[in-house]
Amino acid sequence: MITADLKGKKALVTGAASGIGFGTAQLFARLGATVAINDLPGNPRLDEAVQAITAAGGRAIAAPGNVGDAEGAGAMVRQAAEALGGLDYLINNAAIPGTRSPIPPSDFDRQDEAFWLRLLSINQIGPYRCLKAAAPYLKASRGAVVNTASISGFGGGGSSSVYCSTKAAIINLTKEWAKALGPEVRVNAIAPGMVESDWECRFPEEDQAAGLKRMPLRRAGTPADYAEVMLFLCAGAGYVTGHTVVVDGGITC
Ligand SMILES: NC(=O)c1ccc[n+]([C@@H]2O[C@H](COP(=O)([O-])OP(=O)(O)OC[C@H]3O[C@@H](n4cnc5c(N)ncnc54)[C@H](O)[C@@H]3O)[C@@H](O)[C@H]2O)c1
Repeated sequence: MITADLKGKKALVTGAASGIGFGTAQLFARLGATVAINDLPGNPRLDEAVQAITAAGGRAIAAPGNVGDAEGAGAMVRQAAEALGGLDYLINNAAIPGTRSPIPPSDFDRQDEAFWLRLLSINQIGPYRCLKAAAPYLKASRGAVVNTASISGFGGGGSSSVYCSTKAAIINLTKEWAKALGPEVRVNAIAPGMVESDWECRFPEEDQAAGLKRMPLRRAGTPADYAEVMLFLCAGAGYVTGHTVVVDGGITC
């Protein structure tokens, strides 16, 4: 595990009550950063995440808000940045599959207008809303953004065609936003493969077993595996911007 001194740094992680987001918040706090933990208002895991980090000696505050809310997302970011006294890192991680089981590409009925609009608003426009509100703070600190994309954004399938398209958009927007916020702010992304988390969509056991069999590293990534690459892209990687790092145990190689 790489390390860095994040004392005095301020980070906002969206979707951080669980999985990759929580792992990233834990790592950044352990290294000295003060972390604003965003997740859905009313999610009991949000306060639990803050308490877990605080109990471990870290500094964390709750930043409840729905990134799918056009006005609320920006307000959440501004409140968090004001409470932290600035912002060095934005981890744009919150997203949903919107389904408990994978939807085949041919099943247009389950991918109706409401499904499209929900996933677009949370997975694609959500990160934009947060980035836009965070931009002045990040420019002032010469900070960094990491978006959570997915290997499904490169093709090869995922929980639905709609989900794949939102993640493809994040890979593309990472390039656009690197141009928008440079030279002060670097914007990169990670593309996770299999994740050990409470992700809503469950793939059939046989698909998971087949995936593990062809994956060179033969295991799903832990939140800590993904957090480490987030850390590299925030605290190091000073000449890297606009790029998406694939973190998938080699499943797509
Ligand atoms: N789990 C996977 O298989 C997988 C694979 C590739 C990419 N990803 C991506 O990784 C990221 C994190 O996923 P995870 O596996 O850690 O999932 P997770 O379900 O454990 O965590 C996601 C968190 O986001 C929160 N969230 C959902 N909607 C939100 C909203 N509108 N506003 C604020 N918070 C919201 C949830 O409450 C949850 O705590 C997502 O961007 C996801 O698309 C996941």
